[in-house]
Amino acid sequence: MAVDGSKNASLPLMAAALLADAPVTLRRVPNLSDVANMAHLLAELGCETDATHGTMTLNNVDTSLTHARYDIVRTMRASICVLGPLVARRKIARVSMPGGCSFGARPIDLHLKGLEALGAKIQLDGGDIVVSADRLKGATIFLGGAFGSTVLGTANIMSAATLAQGTTTIESAACEPEIVDVADLLTKMGAKITGAGSPRITIEGVEQLGGADHHVIPDRIVAGTYAIAAAITNGDITFQDFPYDYLLAVIDSLKQVGVDVRKVDESEDSRCCRVQVTSSRRLKPVRVTTQPYPGFPTDLQAQMLALLCLAEGNSIITEKIYPERFLHVAELTRMGAQIFREGPTVVVQGSPKLVGAPVMASDLRASASLVLAGLAAEGETIVTRVYHLDRGYMQMEETLAALGANIERFDPDKELAREIAEGPESTEPLIETTMPVKTVKVS
Ligand code: EPZ
Repeated sequence: MAVDGSKNASLPLMAAALLADAPVTLRRVPNLSDVANMAHLLAELGCETDATHGTMTLNNVDTSLTHARYDIVRTMRASICVLGPLVARRKIARVSMPGGCSFGARPIDLHLKGLEALGAKIQLDGGDIVVSADRLKGATIFLGGAFGSTVLGTANIMSAATLAQGTTTIESAACEPEIVDVADLLTKMGAKITGAGSPRITIEGVEQLGGADHHVIPDRIVAGTYAIAAAITNGDITFQDFPYDYLLAVIDSLKQVGVDVRKVDESEDSRCCRVQVTSSRRLKPVRVTTQPYPGFPTDLQAQMLALLCLAEGNSIITEKIYPERFLHVAELTRMGAQIFREGPTVVVQGSPKLVGAPVMASDLRASASLVLAGLAAEGETIVTRVYHLDRGYMQMEETLAALGANIERFDPDKELAREIAEGPESTEPLIETTMPVKTVKVS
């Protein structure tokens, strides 16, 4: 299977296009609801987007628009990453305060600290943040927080600093590959950035930024999710465009469990290559702690937890980024998992099997975790509220079915209505995983 372009790169890349005085083209943009939401938000900000077959062109046609409204921002927290580009290019930005999410508060204090350090004036007005500055001024900014660096905070400040007067240094910047991808696009647009991917990024302000043509990096979280799908079904999947280099912490943990993640051709670029994933039938327990990149990513914690429910022994997972990110635990327990939580740590007592059950998704990665558990469980698992899945996975049920899984998406209200008469379209499509296919053989 081919790995799609990264959602968590595409969103700040799209926001960065607000800085451009000419059209920006992004290639390999995934077709996801979060991306559609960002395109909707940009349209309201006078930046038209045109996307066909994964290629998106973004063009600023009205730079007088500067208000990101609550009803869009509340559906997608990542909307906050328009803040920096807007105030840098249009001198003012009004963005609704993003709410929290199902796994805890999602503060933006570091974003605001960084913009204030660049000389912006910050006001809170009726639930909106209003940020203004005639011209941002370069500064040295420490952007570390209690949970380490901030990914979208780094994207916001780095983007804003490209048009500031003078030089900006971001200390304790996020090192994620998605940040490097944003820096690569900004550099193509004419920005002067060094150190992206390291904890210290230096940006020398320029007068304006032009257009660019940029390929989005592969999605490491999607790749990691399907690698775990191969492992949890004792399967055998060969991937194209696998970001091997961006998943070394995950590959290390998987190898300890007994999962083999192998480059098919050592001469290929490790950031985007062919990789085969197979696993032994006996999974070993491990200790995993989520960390900022290059550590184990929090966005694969739920999926790894599902796998470790079937390991022979006790595993320990500690969540250092979002200590509350365990809503999937109760649902996995419904499937027979033995999981014991103590604050930011869970102990998973491996079971010989999981049993299919009706479960409910709560957030994007938790929903992926429940589907993976359903693939391995005995019997049928019904996962509801799978609209969460669509935020970060393109047609997951089709991808898994093509790999040999027994999975379908259906809408019980529609089924019922079809029996009685044409009924209303339900908003909560379901995924039904019937008797799982234990061995997934694809190439
Ligand atoms: C990005 O969110 C990702 N989203 C998240 O992926 C990911 O979980 C997260 O980084 C951590 O890797 C996108 O890139 C669109 P943070 P972001 O700012 O940037 C605290 C997914 O599933 N913090 O790096 O919003 C924060 O509470 C999503 O694809 C502050 O305290 O995350 C958290 O504990 C979920 N103050 C930690 O830092 C701030 O101002 C890391 O957050 C900002 C963050």
